[in-house]
Amino acid sequence: MAALKILVIPGSLRTGSLNARLAAVAALEIAQAGAEVTRISLADFPLPIYDGDLQARSGVPKHAVNLKRMIGAHRGVLIVTPEYNSSVPALVKNTIDWVSRVQDPHETRGQVFRDRTFAIAAASGNRLGGTRALAALRLILTACHATVIPNQLALSFANEAYDDMERLKHAADSEALKATVRQLIDFSQRTM
Ligand SMILES: Cc1cc2nc3c(=O)[nH]c(=O)nc-3n(C[C@H](O)[C@H](O)[C@H](O)COP(=O)(O)O)c2cc1C
Repeated sequence: MAALKILVIPGSLRTGSLNARLAAVAALEIAQAGAEVTRISLADFPLPIYDGDLQARSGVPKHAVNLKRMIGAHRGVLIVTPEYNSSVPALVKNTIDWVSRVQDPHETRGQVFRDRTFAIAAASGNRLGGTRALAALRLILTACHATVIPNQLALSFANEAYDDMERLKHAADSEALKATVRQLIDFSQRTM
């Protein structure tokens, strides 16, 4: 049987991003659990702010089409999002908005969300760990008819969450990550 493919998408472009760091740790965990993992940067898929006139004039930008196909090549997707003003950053929402407009031949629009499993995680410097961004992201993905696994990871005090080997140093955090990865793999395997 082909290896299970999981895509990891950090929702921040910032150098030294807490969420990109968590995405790297999660990717390692996914690989250790036996899946084939791809970790991307949204910097490689730059998109304008969604504008229906732009779409009517020029179609969906090629980076949105490419990202949709990248998602389509994986059975499971982990999105690791920052929290901005109690919600997801514009980058994450705008990316999902554009991808949800892609319609490849022989597919319905937004089918890429319906056909695979999503997991969500967040990292923040405060105690809540991006919990409100996770609630917003779950709502957005659910509105796209995605299956979003129940487990999730909100990494609190993420500036201090790592040891000098860049591993999660608190057992509760690493257990939450493992449980999320296990469930993502389990749900994704059921749709292979
Ligand atoms: C516009 C803005 C709004 C923010 N709002 C929140 C917030 O509501 N909750 C929170 O935990 N952190 C908030 N932060 C802090 C971010 O969590 C912090 O900058 C984090 O490092 C961003 O993620 P990154 O390191 O992956 O880029 C905000 C930061 C910015 C720039």
